[in-house]
Amino acid sequence: MSDVEHTLSIIKPDAVERNLEKNIKKIFFDKGFKIVNEKKIQIEKNEAERFYKVHETKPFYNDLCSYLSSGPIIVMVLEKKNAVLDNRKLMGATNPKDADEGTIRAKYGISIDKNSVHGSDSVENAKIEIDFFFKD
Ligand code: CMP
Repeated sequence: MSDVEHTLSIIKPDAVERNLEKNIKKIFFDKGFKIVNEKKIQIEKNEAERFYKVHETKPFYNDLCSYLSSGPIIVMVLEKKNAVLDNRKLMGATNPKDADEGTIRAKYGISIDKNSVHGSDSVENAKIEIDFFFKD
C-alpha cells in the first residue's frame, strides 16, 4: 500500500497561546491521523519568511511572517492514508468565517491571520515543508 502519506501541520501561535494543543490533537486522532514527529518551537522572522516564501509577493506576507514568529508553535508530521487532502478538509477554509462547521478553523480560528492551523497543500509541498522543520 503506497497511499499512506505524510503532511506538515502547524498549530499556530494563537492556538498555542489559548492552550488548544490537546483539543486540536484529539481532532486529528479521532480522524485517524498519527503524529509521527513533533516539536514545540519558536522561529525567527527570517525563518518564517523562508517557510512562507511562496507568498512573498502577497500584501499580507510581512504580517504573516511576523505573526508566525510571534510566539511558540507546534510543528507536527501527520501520517494517514490521503493525509494531505484529509488534513486540508479537516482544517477548513483559510478564512475561519468561510470554514465549514466541524472544521478546526471554524471551531477555533479567530481571523484569516489567526486561523489556528497550517497544513501542506500538496504532497510535493508536504515533503518540502516536512524537510524544512525536521531535516537536520
Ligand atoms: P496558511 O494556510 O498558513 O497559509 C498562508 C497564510 O496566510 C494563511 O494560512 C493565512 O493565515 C494567511 N493569510 C493572511 N491573509 C490572507 C489572504 N488574503 N489570503 C490567504 N491567506 C492569507
